[in-house]
Amino acid sequence: MCGIIGILGSHQVAPQLVEALKRLEYRGYDSAGVATIDDAGKLDRRRAVGKLVNLSDRLVAQPLSGRSGIGHTRWATHGAATEGNAHPHQRGPVAVVHNGIIENFKELREELVAAGYSPESETDTETVAMLTAKYLADGLTPVEAARATLSRLHGAFALAFLFEGESDLMVAARRGSPLAVGHGDNEMYVGSDAIALAPFTDRITYLEEGDHVILTREGAEVFNADGRPVNREIAQIDVGATTIDKGGYRHFMAKEIAQQPAVIGDVLSHYIKDGRIVLPEGLDFRDTDRLTLVACGTAYLAGYVAKYWFEKLAGLPCDLDVASEFRYREPPLSDKSWAMFISQSGETADTLAALHYANGKVAKTLGVVNVGTSAIARDTDIALPTLAGVEVCVASSKAFTCQLTVLAVLALKAAHDRGRLTDAELASHIDDLRAIPALVNQAINIADECQELSGWLSESTDVLFLGRGPLYPVALEGALKLKELSYIHAEGYASGELKHGPIALIDQHMPVVVVAPRDELFEKTISNMQEVMARHGQVLLISDAAGIREGGDGVRASLTMPTGGGIFQPIVYAVPMQYLAYYTAVAKGTDVDQPRNLAKSVTVE
Ligand code: G6P
Repeated sequence: MCGIIGILGSHQVAPQLVEALKRLEYRGYDSAGVATIDDAGKLDRRRAVGKLVNLSDRLVAQPLSGRSGIGHTRWATHGAATEGNAHPHQRGPVAVVHNGIIENFKELREELVAAGYSPESETDTETVAMLTAKYLADGLTPVEAARATLSRLHGAFALAFLFEGESDLMVAARRGSPLAVGHGDNEMYVGSDAIALAPFTDRITYLEEGDHVILTREGAEVFNADGRPVNREIAQIDVGATTIDKGGYRHFMAKEIAQQPAVIGDVLSHYIKDGRIVLPEGLDFRDTDRLTLVACGTAYLAGYVAKYWFEKLAGLPCDLDVASEFRYREPPLSDKSWAMFISQSGETADTLAALHYANGKVAKTLGVVNVGTSAIARDTDIALPTLAGVEVCVASSKAFTCQLTVLAVLALKAAHDRGRLTDAELASHIDDLRAIPALVNQAINIADECQELSGWLSESTDVLFLGRGPLYPVALEGALKLKELSYIHAEGYASGELKHGPIALIDQHMPVVVVAPRDELFEKTISNMQEVMARHGQVLLISDAAGIREGGDGVRASLTMPTGGGIFQPIVYAVPMQYLAYYTAVAKGTDVDQPRNLAKSVTVE
């Protein structure tokens, strides 16, 4: 979702702003813009719809000079993706970039219209620029005007302000949306994340909720939500960990799929040492009687798989919810229960709000989070890192399988703590889990077969994915991936539910992907598959060699998966879901890494 950059530098800043915005592209956007102050103190801006190359072209045709500037990638919320709605929003002597939503913008706009200001865009952000301009016109200094504006805003936001004639000043603020300050040598930066700032500095201060910061080239003065000056730590970041290159792959997604054996291996080495599960203090599952799992998107589907594991292995009742429903349903939560929030970014607005709802109502909150500095990692009692590394493709792949791996470890710990597994049984499950990186590596070898199948899938208008047990959420993930990457309508269904509705859709044009390892549920799923074939549905069966031998007669195509992994097979079966979607998207020529309308870090509800 929207990305922010601000630089008080010593070189021409426009190219640096665009470079930083390129590193924020992964968040998802549909327009972009920059504003600078030139050496005469004049504030000016350039904006363009679509990809950053359009903004670069605009800057070549109409250059902007100056060493101080702000930049933005916009994911449209209020108002279409037009140049007029793109940020920075400038009103007289102030320009603003914003990530989030100003909830009271309508009433502020009415007030400003009554005061003689006329809106030029449909955005909530422009109200911030107008309000600040009004305070400046009333005689406030730039810092006072920014502070007065901030005190009027409701909602969740990160903001950066730049003022005409003030080439050594920037004000930025964080409430609900992430913002980091970068410290250079006589240069200062703000950015939505450390990835954006990594080309310039490795010294970062993460602003806390409610903070605002006054930047000059000499440094940063941070003020907390009460307006008091505070010291915030300067952390040294590992710039290598923020590398965002495709590493020879055509797309980030292809690279991230291929990284899975290695990063899943990292997760296992982190949480299992000498055959023993190693988790932070305070995770004794005898202390709880119920687990609530909350997340969005692919992270929700990781939670869905985990629900099967926690219930089956540990006998621990699990409630599962999408965060946007959970937060407003006001579900009763027992004070003995634990709540777990799963998020790649750790900033998803709904998941964060769900966490804030649960905090204080449950005995413990847990986070399964990939970005260690994120709000969800900070605000949960125990944050368990996912260790997938930076995931750039908007659609999640390696973060999903790493989430699953962390959740598998937790489910085993829960089962052992609760006396559901003997030491020997635990050791056997741990062996299954340790086999996963090698099995995922073998699964990656089916890439070419998935590419061959993509011709068929890319010509379809609808695709059905069927699975049973913990493979049902994997089928849901297959459908979600195909939808988001290739824009083909797809649905995931529990195999047994087929005859209660979706079977009406089956005809000779409908590809039906059946995810069915040769496990205790195999025969039931294969019966459902027969029901599809009896109605001329075109089946792609994904199973192991034994499953294909036993159930493969009459299918249009099959993919042979490696055998092994026990109850943790869903992690391996995620791979064909990813490759089918990936190659179908490539065949259709869609934007694989940044699908239309999607954002990676969804910081609005
Ligand atoms: C967006 C992304 C998905 C992601 C979901 C949840 O929709 O496009 O890939 O699964 O948000 O994000 P989170 O960062 O909380 O895991």
